[in-house]
Amino acid sequence: MTNNAAFLLAKRLGNFYAVGMKGIILAGGAGSRLYPLTLVASKQLQPVYDKPMVYYPLTTLIEGGIRELCLISTPQDLPRFQQLLGDGRRFGVSIEYRVQEKPAGIAQAFLIAESFIGQDNVTLILGDNIFYGGDSFYRAFADFKGGETIYGYHVNDPERYGVVEFDVQGKAVSIEEKPKQPKSNYAVPGLYICDNSVVEIAKNLQPSARGELEITAVNVEYLKRGQLRVQRLTRGFAWLDAGTSSSLHEASAYVQTIEKRAGIKIGCPEEAAFRQGFVSLEQLEKIVGAMPNCEYRTYLEHEVVAEAKRLNQ
Ligand code: TTP
Repeated sequence: MTNNAAFLLAKRLGNFYAVGMKGIILAGGAGSRLYPLTLVASKQLQPVYDKPMVYYPLTTLIEGGIRELCLISTPQDLPRFQQLLGDGRRFGVSIEYRVQEKPAGIAQAFLIAESFIGQDNVTLILGDNIFYGGDSFYRAFADFKGGETIYGYHVNDPERYGVVEFDVQGKAVSIEEKPKQPKSNYAVPGLYICDNSVVEIAKNLQPSARGELEITAVNVEYLKRGQLRVQRLTRGFAWLDAGTSSSLHEASAYVQTIEKRAGIKIGCPEEAAFRQGFVSLEQLEKIVGAMPNCEYRTYLEHEVVAEAKRLNQ
């Protein structure tokens, strides 16, 4: 499908197709806090309740209207991701793969994926970040006009994250990486919507004291240029990172609670691709038909395919 045809279709479906926006899923890292779980399988392949962790950020990018994706991981883990996600066709997207030899920092993703990004804008999402709830979250993708957009999320342990400070007008005035004395409770989640100048910015970064190309340094550069927009996520929105044994367990419990109560699935990329108009009903039926009998398949058959047919009648 041409970009234009897909865009018109997405519009007809009331969805948004982010033309000229590419997506990167960063799924490398050491995963040392999850040892020994991560001894043979990377963190982002671990289950979060009923699906692999990487399904959640993948779904977020699809719901953000992004169709051209690149996944970055370690040399040993990359083949597993290729086995799991393939070329992306089953999710109505294309997926390229790149290796990060060593975990040299989140901002290195923009350098590793430079040829993939080309002249386009790019959204980077961390492979262990789960976002759920609220349409205003996706408005940031639709409203993006340049510079960088990040989010601010109220947490009780801001010292673990990049922390953003706001002035009385609600404008971001500083961002600090893992500060000992945080200036606010607003952490910066692992999703960064950037214009193409991010590649140039990343090229000019120096490694930090811990030897990494820091994403916070990228955010600070956009802030200095007066081109940083920070959207505060509202109460009730869920941002989970699943990097420790407890947070992994809590993320699973959270997903299970919502899924059981509402009879829906969180982080289901096939469903997201269909709702975005990235795959047709016919294609979805074929994709679902190739799945083994399981609860995931039953969900897609009953709640998505059958429901769409009923509504089409
Ligand atoms: P972290 O959770 O900060 O690091 P980690 O995954 O290596 O885990 P640990 O601290 O337990 O060793 O990383 C956040 C996310 O970013 C995670 O999904 C891994 C990814 N990442 C990379 O892929 N490459 C990198 O160089 C870094 C720093 C992180």
